[in-house]
Amino acid sequence: MDLSVNLAPHHKVELRLRNPVMTGSGTSSNGVELAKHYDVEQLGALVSKGTTLRPRRGNPTPRTVETPAGMINSIGFQNIGVNALIQQVAPIWEQWTVPAIVNIMGDTLEEYGLLAARLDGIPGVAGLEVNISCPNVEVGGLEFGQDPELAVDVVREVARNTSLPYLVKLTPSVADIRPVAEAVALAGAHALTVSNTIPALAIDVKRRRPALANVFGGLSGPAVKPIALRNVYLAASVVDIPVVASGGIMSGEDALEFIMAGATAVQVGTATFLDPEAPWRIVRELTAWCETEGVARLDDVRGAARRRD
Ligand SMILES: Cc1cc2nc3c(=O)[nH]c(=O)nc-3n(C[C@H](O)[C@H](O)[C@H](O)COP(=O)(O)O)c2cc1C
Repeated sequence: MDLSVNLAPHHKVELRLRNPVMTGSGTSSNGVELAKHYDVEQLGALVSKGTTLRPRRGNPTPRTVETPAGMINSIGFQNIGVNALIQQVAPIWEQWTVPAIVNIMGDTLEEYGLLAARLDGIPGVAGLEVNISCPNVEVGGLEFGQDPELAVDVVREVARNTSLPYLVKLTPSVADIRPVAEAVALAGAHALTVSNTIPALAIDVKRRRPALANVFGGLSGPAVKPIALRNVYLAASVVDIPVVASGGIMSGEDALEFIMAGATAVQVGTATFLDPEAPWRIVRELTAWCETEGVARLDDVRGAARRRD
């Protein structure tokens, strides 16, 4: 059975995964701790914590809170910074055959370019995931991903500075994800990740305060799955590059829902807080389903649930 997928079929540098199950950015750090307990080589790809130019300490605690069917986080991009990632983490990734993808996040257009340039040609780095679900400090806090023109600017800046394949991770905080998806694909993105967390709030009645120190955070987990599913379905209807699904994937069946909506691969995030082994279990469940159903390649069911005109 062939579960392999290529996330950059239109690029000179391929991003080939042995199966479509990836970790979601920010939910398994840089994969190094995970690798002490589990065999990372059995996954499709690892995605790093959101990485910025300089190290960040992140937001004050509490930074996560459980909600019905999900969680809200406001970590504030705590990370070691791109230079430490290159020096300390990339050499470990280089010893693995599983592709490691660096999730990058800039406050300005220029920072995206600098991050892309810094990571270009670094052994161990197989690709980038460009998080555009973050405020552009030069444009009064509007997220790059909420405006097709700003999103295209980021894509061009990244493309100018790297030969690596890159995914662009879209925000669900838009009325319709299609214009941004289409613009980003036309600008040359090799794949899309759809979609990030949804802005949310929880109140702690006992303390009469917001549950998170930063007040607001991003909702993830099963609560967002139907929203992410719709976004994947819509994005896949306007682009011909791979769409990678993210949002509430807890089981092989969830992964299949996204694949049938048109996704090429899936990312597992919040599920790992409940079950650190979730990505491996999902690979097993997908494999078992294919065997039972006599499906030789996931291409045979990809997009199966899409409306046929
Ligand atoms: C604790 C936590 C930290 C996250 N950090 C990042 C990040 O640094 N960069 C990013 O693009 N997404 C980040 N995300 C979003 C996830 O990668 C994922 O897109 C989102 O949580 C939806 O998927 P899930 O429901 O499987 O978690 C984070 C999510 C969580 C829960």
